[in-house]
Order: sequence, then structure tokens, then C-alpha cells
Amino acid sequence: MANVVLVGSQWGDEGKAKVVDLLSKNADYIVRYQGGSNAGHTVNTGGKKYKFHLIPSGILNEGTICMVGNGTVIDPKVILREINELQDQGIDMSNLQISASAHVTMPYHLLIDAAQEEARGSKKIGTTCRGIGPTYADKSARSGLRMCELTDSSALLDKLKTLIPEKNIILDRLYGLEPLNIDEVFREYAEYGKQLAPYVFDTAAIVWEANKQRKNILFEGAQGTLLDLDHGTYPYVTSSNPVAGGACIGSGVGPNFIDRVIGIAKAYTTRVGEGPFPTEVQGSSAKILRAEGTAWEEIGTTTGRARRVGWFDAVLMRYAVRINGMDCLALTKLDVLDDLEEILVCNAYKDIRTGEVYKDLPAKSNFLKYVEPIYEKLAPWKDETKSVGATEIGQLSAGALSYVRYLESILEIPITIVSVGPSREQTIVLEDPIHGPKRVLETAI
Ligand code: GDP
Ligand code: IMO
Ligand code: MG
Repeated sequence: MANVVLVGSQWGDEGKAKVVDLLSKNADYIVRYQGGSNAGHTVNTGGKKYKFHLIPSGILNEGTICMVGNGTVIDPKVILREINELQDQGIDMSNLQISASAHVTMPYHLLIDAAQEEARGSKKIGTTCRGIGPTYADKSARSGLRMCELTDSSALLDKLKTLIPEKNIILDRLYGLEPLNIDEVFREYAEYGKQLAPYVFDTAAIVWEANKQRKNILFEGAQGTLLDLDHGTYPYVTSSNPVAGGACIGSGVGPNFIDRVIGIAKAYTTRVGEGPFPTEVQGSSAKILRAEGTAWEEIGTTTGRARRVGWFDAVLMRYAVRINGMDCLALTKLDVLDDLEEILVCNAYKDIRTGEVYKDLPAKSNFLKYVEPIYEKLAPWKDETKSVGATEIGQLSAGALSYVRYLESILEIPITIVSVGPSREQTIVLEDPIHGPKRVLETAI
């Protein structure tokens, strides 16, 4: 087969876990390459609901080795809870491998994340308060603690003796919080290290060998393109690189490992947390887009916050296609549009200061604050895509199909998967996403 990167195209929660679960039957290895317990991934299959934060949802597939790569940040408490919960649901964890080089989210990271948010006041980012920003900040500042140290108690104690006094100054003087006790933190985290040690590996070396043996590797991104630290809607972003380029760094492989990039997008847009959102809607359409009162209501899996909702934004999507070098797209949640009286798609922005029209996102400060979406009106289909539980494209109503074809044409990218419900079965595979058609590059000069 091929080595594939799966990447969120919007502000996260695009339904990545469902697509990972779907494609995992063709994958020998899955590597989650960035992010931490800020992610919330849900899979519905066989009448059961599984929730993931750090472990790839491919773990549901018995034959697939699931790795949590070096580019991730791991809260040991959260991953241990996740392991235990999945085991209680009868899922075998012997295929889980955590990178020895992944950084560890420590108690001071959690405290500092929450304190920083509070201090930001009206300028808060709306983080998940899972310690993500402070853990990555320490990694960059070379003050981080990695899994290989968490699982080596003398290295752990040594590090804590330097790190905790430094963090205590910040906790106390900057935020007026209680200092942490080195011995208490050591005892608790050494125990987590002991419990996690059987799962810790040199994952990059294992992936290298797997590739030599022509195994199929799927690189799983968390969050989404617009939350990317470098390419997202900064500063309202996360602190890692969800974009496809992040797969190499976060797994320890070269760019020549990657054969294909598959983007995942909702048929509309959602966002959790603060930051610009040009196509955001309120009122009755928002109620439908938020799927209020249904089992798949738009509520954050990690934080329980209501997700903001809006129309499909083709300007941001063109940007996502470009930044990720996306080959094809999986479109999810088409069924949510079933009941709408009107369906809008933003195909361009007007800069309200200059009147200029944009079809792609320019690198300009505060640009999204000053844009007005230019909408195309599409025919609503008012048909029960979800209850049909379509598995063939022919089962979609003409209106739903023309929506898919319209998005394909304005984005200039093949849509190879259409998801019409939360369960594994409610999926239409139009073309083989791994070997089928790709975005065609413009003819070289
Ligand atoms: P992720 O973070 O990208 O993995 O997405 P989440 O799991 O956070 O959010 C997606 C939610 O939508 C989950 O509750 C899924 O079960 C659900 N979901 C996925 N695909 C579909 C779909 O096509 N239709 C509907 N109605 N729900 C879906
Ligand atoms: P999945 O993988 C949606 C958002 C937060 C906040 C910003 C920064 O489920 O798609 P952080 O805690 O990372 O410092 O918060 O990023 N955010 C997500 N939004 N889905 C996610 O993950 C997210 N992970 C972080 O809401 O706006
Ligand atoms: Mg999510």
C-alpha cells in the first residue's frame, strides 16, 4: 500500500478518529505525531462508543501497532486512565508503543496553563487547560522531561530537583499558587513511570524497520491545520504542528516516507475556544449545525464545551489543501446538513477595509478580523441521509451529492470518502483514498 498522513483541515474535531478507525484495517502501524491530551477522539462501532485522547483509535483494530510518537506530549495520568478504560472495554493494549522521546506533561504544566489563561483575561485563548502550551514551551526551552526519564527513577529525581524549585518560583511569585513538593511529585510520577515502562520504545527505529519491510504506516494528526502553531490562526492555536509536515518530525521519519496526504473536513465548520471564525452562525441554523439534542451534539470530547458552528469555509480549506499538500479529502458529517432550510458555502472573503476579494488566506496580521464572507447559496436537500445510512454514493439524494461535487470543484481536490453518520458503517467510499485519484498538479512550465 502506501504510507499516509491523515490530517485535520479545519479547527479540529473533523471526525479524524472515525476515518483513522476506518483506514486502520489497511495499516500495520499507526503513529500519532503531535498534540497531547487536548485531543478528544470518538469512535462509534458495533453499538459501542470509544473515547481517545492520546492513544490512536486504530487500537480497536487487533493487528495494528499503535504508536504515540516523539512529537506528542504525554500526561501519564491521562494515558494510564485511557489504557485502563480501554482494557475494561476488552481492548488489548499489547500493541501500544509510546516513544521514549515524547515529552511529559507534569503537574506544574497543568497549573501554569490554567493560571496563564486566567491572567490573559479577555485575551484568553480558550485552551483545554491540559498543560499543552507549557509542556511544549519547556521542550523548546530545553527544560522538558521525556518518557525515557519518567521511566528511569534516578533520572527523574535528578530532573525534578532542578525543575521544581524553578517552577515553584513561577507558581508562587507570578500566580500566587502553592509550591509543589519534590518528594511528593517524585513518588507519584515514579509510580506512573513504572506502570508505563512496558509501553515505552524507540518508536522511530521501529518505524524505520517497518518501512524497510514495506509495512503500511498511517501517520495520525490530532487537532487541525488552523490550530497549527506555525500555520494556524495564531495566537489562537495549539502549541504543536498538526499539519502534514509535522508527521516527519513527530515520528522521526524522512519526508520520503510519505506517499499520500489525506485531509479530513466537516461539511460545515466548528471551533472550540476563542479566536476568529468568519463563517460562524447563530440562531436556528446554528442549532441544526450543532446537532442539538442528538447523540452527536457538537460538544467538546475533552472539555465538554459547546462547539461554535458555522458554514463551510472554502477559503480556509484551500489554504489547508495548500499547506498540507493534500491529495484527497474525506468529508464528514454530511448528514448534519439534512434538515437545513438553506445551505451556504463561503467561497471568498471581502476585506472590509479595502474591498479586495480573497480566495486563499494571506499571511497578514489580524486579517480574519476584517473579512466578510462571500457566500454561495446551495439547494437544501431536506432528505434523511442519516437514516438511509448510505453506504453507496447512489443512495445520497441529488442535493447532497451535488453539495459534495460542488466542494470538490471549488477546492480542486477529489473527495474520496463521505461520512454520513457517526458509525463505521455510515461511510461512503467513493474512491480508494489510498491508491485512488489524487489532486492533479498544474502542468509544469
Ligand atoms: P476528531 O477529534 O477529529 O476525531 O473528532 P471528534 O471525535 O472530536 O468529533 C467528531 C464527532 O462527530 C464524534 O462524536 C463522532 O462520533 C461524530 N461523527 C464522525 N463522523 C460523523 C458523521 O459523518 N456524521 C455524524 N452525525 N457524526 C459523525
Ligand atoms: P482534536 O484532536 C478542537 C483548541 C482549544 C484551544 C486551542 C489551544 O479532538 O481535534 P490547547 O489546550 O491545545 O493549548 O488549546 O486549541 N484545541 C482543540 N479544538 N479539537 C481539538 O483536538 C483541540 N485541541 C486543542 O480549544 O482553542
Ligand atoms: Mg476531537
